[in-house]
Amino acid sequence: MSDRIFLSSPHMSEEGYEMQYIKEAFDTNWIAPLGPNVNEFEKEFAKKVGAKHAAALSSGTAAIQMALKAAGVGEGDIVFCQSLTFSATANPIIYQNAIPVFIDSDYETWNIDPNALEEAFRKYPNVKAVLVVHLYGLSADMDSIMEICNKHNVVVIEDAAESLGTYYKGRHTGTIGDYGIFSFNGNKIITTSGGGMLVSDDEERIAKVKFWATQSRDPARHYQHSELGFNYRLSNVLAGIGRGQLKVLNDITFLRDLEVIIMTVIKVFQRDGISFKGMDTAEDFGDYLLREKKITEGEYRAAMEKVKQMLNNY
Ligand SMILES: Cc1ncc(COP(=O)(O)O)c(C=O)c1O
Repeated sequence: MSDRIFLSSPHMSEEGYEMQYIKEAFDTNWIAPLGPNVNEFEKEFAKKVGAKHAAALSSGTAAIQMALKAAGVGEGDIVFCQSLTFSATANPIIYQNAIPVFIDSDYETWNIDPNALEEAFRKYPNVKAVLVVHLYGLSADMDSIMEICNKHNVVVIEDAAESLGTYYKGRHTGTIGDYGIFSFNGNKIITTSGGGMLVSDDEERIAKVKFWATQSRDPARHYQHSELGFNYRLSNVLAGIGRGQLKVLNDITFLRDLEVIIMTVIKVFQRDGISFKGMDTAEDFGDYLLREKKITEGEYRAAMEKVKQMLNNY
């Protein structure tokens, strides 16, 4: 096979919802880093994941930094951070002049190992926050992690950049700790080309983040800034893409589930020496279905049912 299979390429809605919201922004001249799409995207996103409040930001990285700031993390503070992750999880700890201490990962979840976390608290009793990741859509062991963090009275920030659509015991990842962040980078479950979201049930902290992220502009007629500000808000045009993407989130996660099931079936068949005509590897099959898009989404659904039955009967 000569072509590459992308880790996670963008999937825009067949209905063109994203373009409709973008057009609306252009028609009403809301080409600004705020506006109705931003407000609605925040509300719709918060509802989707089951959080009370949300702030749409320019990236997942910015959302992590704002979460750390909201948690009071500043110079010299220790933040426990997952070791196996993308560098963008840890970088904002340094932006805040704090000190990351990396915690080893659990064999099963690939995320923070609760035993290692417990041990780390024995070595570092004064910790300001724990930054746990749900890597590759796999949830961390949140019951154990929350129990330990509550015992030590430490703020929990969940990096759910890669786990939109992942639930842990009925709760969406990113809504279990004090703050959750999501990324809408081009390689994420949904994309706004670039963007992020911070969610929390703490209304006052989310309002403060929105203030910091719009250059901390005081409510005065002239330009007045009594705090350090950031230019971290999501644009109204990009928030339009996000609103369209949210409408098809279930389809997107469905396609990914299907891909995983198909790959699993093919691996079982390969183990037993059974081969598909012209599709001898999982990559061939995935390429055929997902990149060339030879079948419609309705057919995908029918195929998923069949695959499930095949798995049950195998
Ligand atoms: C685990 C993780 N955390 C944070 C980020 C940062 O998100 P963004 O690229 O939107 O800044 C990413 C992705 O890039 C990620 O995979």
